[in-house]
Amino acid sequence: MKAVILAGGTGTRLLPLTRLMNKHLLPVGRHPMICYSINKLKEAGITEIMLVTGRGAAGSFTGFLGSGRDYGVSLTYRIQEEAGGIAQALELAQPFVGSDRKFAVLLGDNLFEEPLGPHIDVFQQQREGARVLLKQVSDPHRYGVPVFDSQGRITRIEEKPVIPRSDRCVTGIYLFDDTVFSMIAHQAPSMRGELEITDVNNTYAAQGLLEYGELDGWWTDAGTFESLLEASAKLMRISP
Ligand code: G1P
Repeated sequence: MKAVILAGGTGTRLLPLTRLMNKHLLPVGRHPMICYSINKLKEAGITEIMLVTGRGAAGSFTGFLGSGRDYGVSLTYRIQEEAGGIAQALELAQPFVGSDRKFAVLLGDNLFEEPLGPHIDVFQQQREGARVLLKQVSDPHRYGVPVFDSQGRITRIEEKPVIPRSDRCVTGIYLFDDTVFSMIAHQAPSMRGELEITDVNNTYAAQGLLEYGELDGWWTDAGTFESLLEASAKLMRISP
């Protein structure tokens, strides 16, 4: 299976750290943040990886990671010319995914403990659709939050709801089948003018094709000063 790491965005919640440096290159423990996503994929046996980032940061990523050889992976790069949303960045991966039926997507600021391998194995058994991983959090209003029906299926995901309907969030670890690309192609921009990953997942949910698993161990999206510090402390002893 191939995977895509999305490492663009403007990182506004981490200003001024992100004025000169892409968020995913900031130090976490002893390594730049991006190393941990690469390591998680490699640990799950995924070595063909596309990294999507913005124009300004691309040179730093290629300079630091090169072909991926030092990390035991093979990297392909694509540039997202403007900040048009996570789903727009994902659409750029279509030629890379090619004729593969299934692939994995990680948001590069999602740092976590549990190996991905078992979740990928479950997804391989899934006939079609998408699979998201959920995590119980104390601040669900910061994230995409699932709404469940009486059978425990996700009927939809609410993005950053004022009143969350669950204490679980949708993490930035997604497993998609190749129908995701036609969904994105037909998707309209959100109120903030971006193609939203939550709208993609909601299209799967509306078709009854959104499955989920629970992520064990600690998880954080290192997009704020607090979570960046927490991740750094947790990962200090880990060598990706
Ligand atoms: C994005 C997604 C959100 C998800 C989160 C996980 O939010 O839109 O649904 O819960 O990643 O990290 P962002 O961090 O871009 O605000």
